[in-house]
Amino acid sequence: MQVVVVGSANADLVVEVPRRPGAGETLLGGELSTLPGGKGANQAAAAARCGAATGFVGSVGDDGNGAFLRERLVAAGVDVSGLVSVDAATGTAIILLTPDGENSIVVSPGANHAFDAAAAGRAADVWRGAPVVVLSLEIPHATAFLVAREAREAGSRVVLNAAPAARIAPEVLRLCDPLIVNEHEALEALGADGSDPDADDYPRLVRRLIAAGARSVVVTLGAEGALVAESGAGNGLGDEAAVVVEAVPAYRVTALDTTGAGDAFVGATAAELARGASLGDAVRFATAVSAVAVQRVGAQASYADRAEIDAFIAERA
Ligand code: RIB
Repeated sequence: MQVVVVGSANADLVVEVPRRPGAGETLLGGELSTLPGGKGANQAAAAARCGAATGFVGSVGDDGNGAFLRERLVAAGVDVSGLVSVDAATGTAIILLTPDGENSIVVSPGANHAFDAAAAGRAADVWRGAPVVVLSLEIPHATAFLVAREAREAGSRVVLNAAPAARIAPEVLRLCDPLIVNEHEALEALGADGSDPDADDYPRLVRRLIAAGARSVVVTLGAEGALVAESGAGNGLGDEAAVVVEAVPAYRVTALDTTGAGDAFVGATAAELARGASLGDAVRFATAVSAVAVQRVGAQASYADRAEIDAFIAERA
């Protein structure tokens, strides 16, 4: 396999609402849809749809939602030999979708939290030695960081999507190539918050993450695109000011549902890196993948295949 994603799988319970309810308020929404989601499973589905031979490692419950998620991953072309069923409810995400295409999400991790270091070890034959290993933080952090360390030691390129937001210790940052975060996650990864003097200075946050040890960093900025930087030649560690930050613009599209667009971006970036693309080129391709995804409802349900993405890019060239 070229890409192995070790992460979460959730059943997304999606309801369209006219607006977010306030405290103590009951709102009537639209019909309930159950869609395949979870950051890890989404990333795996996206990488596979982009054409990478992809495996998913994680856990679901021995229940209907678990069977549904497994079946959807297989349909997306993902190898699920590392997906185990455990005695816990499958992870669930309650998603409120507002007319502006934005969402509010509450995750009940369920079986994802059972994916501990021992479970990761039992699936090591799937992820150890994969060219690209992708991790995110809806599984226990200790598991994700252990896999990151062992995967790196075994020669894999480790892509860490530090989502949901969390502080990332320097010894973990040093494994990331790249660390992929949005604006808020970038601050949290540094152990900072909105009161930080650089809170709105995203190029500076990228430089700080490189200086803190990350091998490379991608900060996603929604409709504003992404910022990319790599340590190494010309980007001397310890000299923040010298780090060159490349801005990759986003495609202009009308968003219907942004759920899972960040995961599509991560999966597509990993797939391109596995094909040998430079980080900048991988991010350029991934911006197209997420631009197509936001125009459709759902996470995995919104992911296009490589032919559609290539056509989308050609149309806009
Ligand atoms: O990033 C989107 C995902 O976050 C959803 O699919 C939901 O399951 C939550 O994990």
